[in-house]
Amino acid sequence: MIRAGVIGVGAIGRHHVRIYNQLDDVQLVAIADPDEARRMGLARLYKTPAYASFEEMFDRETLDVVSIAVPTVLHREVTLAALERGVNVLVEKPIAATVEEAAEMIKRAAARGLTLMVGHVERFNPALIELKRRLAAGELGHVFQVYARRLSPFPAYIRDVGVVMDLATHELDIMRYLLGSEAERIYAETERNLHNLYEDMLAGTIKFENGIVGVLDINWLTPTKVRELRITGERGMFLVDYLKQDLYFYENSKAPNPWDAMALFRGVGEGNVLKFQLNKVEPLEAELAAFIKATVNHTEPAVTGLDGLHALALVQMVLASAEQGQVLRVRDHVAAHGWAEMMGAKT
Ligand SMILES: NC(=O)c1ccc[n+]([C@@H]2O[C@H](COP(=O)([O-])OP(=O)(O)OC[C@H]3O[C@@H](n4cnc5c(N)ncnc54)[C@H](O)[C@@H]3O)[C@@H](O)[C@H]2O)c1
Repeated sequence: MIRAGVIGVGAIGRHHVRIYNQLDDVQLVAIADPDEARRMGLARLYKTPAYASFEEMFDRETLDVVSIAVPTVLHREVTLAALERGVNVLVEKPIAATVEEAAEMIKRAAARGLTLMVGHVERFNPALIELKRRLAAGELGHVFQVYARRLSPFPAYIRDVGVVMDLATHELDIMRYLLGSEAERIYAETERNLHNLYEDMLAGTIKFENGIVGVLDINWLTPTKVRELRITGERGMFLVDYLKQDLYFYENSKAPNPWDAMALFRGVGEGNVLKFQLNKVEPLEAELAAFIKATVNHTEPAVTGLDGLHALALVQMVLASAEQGQVLRVRDHVAAHGWAEMMGAKT
């Protein structure tokens, strides 16, 4: 039995608790959160010990793994404390508040020989997994563009970060993962409309080193929830609907163009639309199961600390571009901030 704990049992942490409680070969050992009502409510529900302080939980309990779902500014402190006690860590996304903090967490986990995985949960969405598989098989041919839309009603309860840190993190990780390429330049516009401290809207463009263009359309201002990714290439377009876990392929038309005059123009027409049949799963459950497996087998986790650091670096660069009102050259920004070694660059 793998002995699991959860630190921070708010909006997302409570789901980690529920899933550890139901996973095979995992025993939910304890939870920690200073919020008494939250902590005690879950303690009663799952009949598990609950602590106001994570230090006390580590002192009293023996844990193999822990999920860390505290506010992002605390990720570093809590992760380092867990690693210090020899506990393997799954930290929610974004990995940390700064690239430097993320690098320290990665270094400490490696030095202790412990697993550090980051909760980029969309990697475990069946539609995304199927898309990755089909892209790797070359089904789209040459890829031109990837377009991500992540629109939400205003989440009044999120006070500590803006929409770039909260939502764009997902898409930045996914683009890098799908395209297998690093960003070359970034241009972003952000606006603060309803939030009293941080940006709640992002319109951004990323040129990747392999020539593919990424478009980010992300906000907390839309009355309906949309989580979509479109990837267009030589043979057509894939569309992922993250919420429904659906994957579609819009084929280019194979029929000859009937008008000779029109055939003079190079272009594509509408072909069949295919919706793939997929087995739906709860992505967070798949994520936690993958974390447990990587820990038990001592294998590299599906989302490494370095993946988390890269996604966070992209978040920071999107924000910097918007703040400066300029196109940001990634190489220059990375060099100016001394991030190259932390990002694993071979200089
Ligand atoms: N993967 C995802 O899709 C996803 C979704 C939501 C949140 N998140 C991430 O999870 C983290 C938490 O977000 P949330 O929305 O659940 O926040 P939240 O505010 O709902 O919950 C955070 C919890 O941490 C507790 N906490 C604060 N200090 C603590 C401490 N020292 N020790 C133990 N617990 C402490 C709070 O009392 C609260 O219950 C953030 O980093 C966020 O970015 C990820």
